[in-house]
Amino acid sequence: CGIVGYIGNQDAKEILLKGLEKLEYRGYDSAGIAVMNCECVQVFKEKGRIADLRGIVDMGVEANAGIGHTRWATHGAPSIRNAHPHQSDSGRFTLVHNGVIENYSELEREYLNDVELKSDTDTEVIVQLIELFAKNDLSTLEAFRKTLSLLKGSYALALLDEKDNETIYVAKNKSPLLVGLGDTFNVVASDAMAMLQVTDQFVELMDKEIVIVKKNEVIIQDLKGETISRAPYKAELDASDIEKGTHPHYMLKEIDEQPLVMRKIIQKYQDNDGELAIDGTIIDAIKAADRIYIIAAGTSYHAGLIGKQLIESMAKIPVEVHISSEFGYNMPLLSEKPLFVFISQSGETADSRAVLVQVKEMGHPALTITNVPGSTLSREADFTLLLHAGPEIAVASTKAYTAQLAVLAIVAEVAAKSRGVEIGFDLVKELGIVANAMEVLCDLKEIIEHIAREFLTVTRNAFFIGRAVDYYVSLEAALKLKEISYIQAEGFAGGELKHGTIALIEEGTPVIALSTQEKVNLSIRGNVKEVAARGAYPCIISMKGLEQDEDSFVLPAVHEQLTPLISVIPLQLLAYYAALHRGCDVDKPRNLAKSVTVE
Ligand code: G6P
Repeated sequence: CGIVGYIGNQDAKEILLKGLEKLEYRGYDSAGIAVMNCECVQVFKEKGRIADLRGIVDMGVEANAGIGHTRWATHGAPSIRNAHPHQSDSGRFTLVHNGVIENYSELEREYLNDVELKSDTDTEVIVQLIELFAKNDLSTLEAFRKTLSLLKGSYALALLDEKDNETIYVAKNKSPLLVGLGDTFNVVASDAMAMLQVTDQFVELMDKEIVIVKKNEVIIQDLKGETISRAPYKAELDASDIEKGTHPHYMLKEIDEQPLVMRKIIQKYQDNDGELAIDGTIIDAIKAADRIYIIAAGTSYHAGLIGKQLIESMAKIPVEVHISSEFGYNMPLLSEKPLFVFISQSGETADSRAVLVQVKEMGHPALTITNVPGSTLSREADFTLLLHAGPEIAVASTKAYTAQLAVLAIVAEVAAKSRGVEIGFDLVKELGIVANAMEVLCDLKEIIEHIAREFLTVTRNAFFIGRAVDYYVSLEAALKLKEISYIQAEGFAGGELKHGTIALIEEGTPVIALSTQEKVNLSIRGNVKEVAARGAYPCIISMKGLEQDEDSFVLPAVHEQLTPLISVIPLQLLAYYAALHRGCDVDKPRNLAKSVTVE
């Protein structure tokens, strides 16, 4: 889901369509644009891909302003009727919206009894309210402001008024939105990538701000109408970072980038003496804490589970890991001096942000570990550590996960050092070995492709099992496979499978077992025997030094604490090839969004 807008002298529809293409990676199920010239506003919407939308846009229309949207359905099924932009009854106002309006049915009952709504969305209520207030003699800006004051929930909005073809009205609350600045044009975008084609100068917007965007000026106001001045920043993204290059898919490109990212992280987190280092204020916050609470969603949550292991074993600080969407509603009893660590590739996940807002209100310190500088979670936390993984475009997260593990290991090492705890190994050297091992694995794609063909092309389901840290990697492996190949997959603790789930094992069910930890090498192999005896088709991935003849794949040896950084790579590749051979759209899996900005 994402928003774009353009006002200037150039052909708006092409810039909007290109912008939406750059936002495709965030996931969506329908899309639309509205273009405006001195005569009228024209809306084009389509279900499916931007390529389908392109096919129905009247390329003859000349317009120098417009807004566009990709929609990931929350209220109302994916359809042309529910796709954005939405228009008010008379057609005067046209609006795109990201987010969720929680009180839309109350607003509809209270204000819009006489209006026949044309869609099933919460968004249409906003545009109809604006029209209603404008009919009562309010200016567009006043009607917009009045409407915003009634909304409960999250929104990023861009509005066109047919009677004023020189302005785009913009507002945001909780959902991300940026304004980009150009010479004789200005743009609006949910993320900088969408508009890098025309500018790298962006202005961040804060919650509850309204922005009046014209081709030669941008005026930011608070809800009371006071003007706010804010300097732009340069988006540190290279347009080529977001191209696929010679790779057939972003996911494969991002898997291949992992050794490079590893080396970049080592370099970024080393001080002049070659020691690993993070900002002193973060070290102080860690030292002051009696417990760390990691909060995250999806793949980042899986990285958090391994982060707990790393921080507890290296720095001896107790850590809890929580799913962000649960934490806010089911908060555990907190320790006296908690430190919250938010892990988020995008830095925009609404579930995590809701927890951040809550814990900041409670007065607790927060650190965000993210790939996106300037993202909401980064701005709103007290401290940020960056992943330096470069833009991750494929919906299925790969390089951000291994980058998260590396940064968490560095946090653990630095925290241990600051507490005078000896970790017993040289992390810089061991991460270097990891980077080399990653490179070796990326060169062994053919073997993994072969395993994917053998185990995963026709199956309905699959299980990943592991013990200790391998269990956490199994969870991530199962998520990867589910996300892109739609095979029903589960990650299980090797010893737990027999307590119920083993009932699902049938003749030929693939069970992929990880064995990278010496202390559980024999017990996980015992679990493999249990499922094989019931007809399962086992595939063992082991670490050099622990391997046996029956194993399908042997990983190069790395330090025992860092095995997840490399054991996940063949599993990412397995998911990739399984999806590819099942004819799935690897980079844009159905129903998923890369950055989920709704709770
Ligand atoms: C979405 C994505 C997942 C991702 C999760 C958390 O659901 O599809 O791949 O792991 O959000 O995202 P974050 O940006 O917070 O790491």
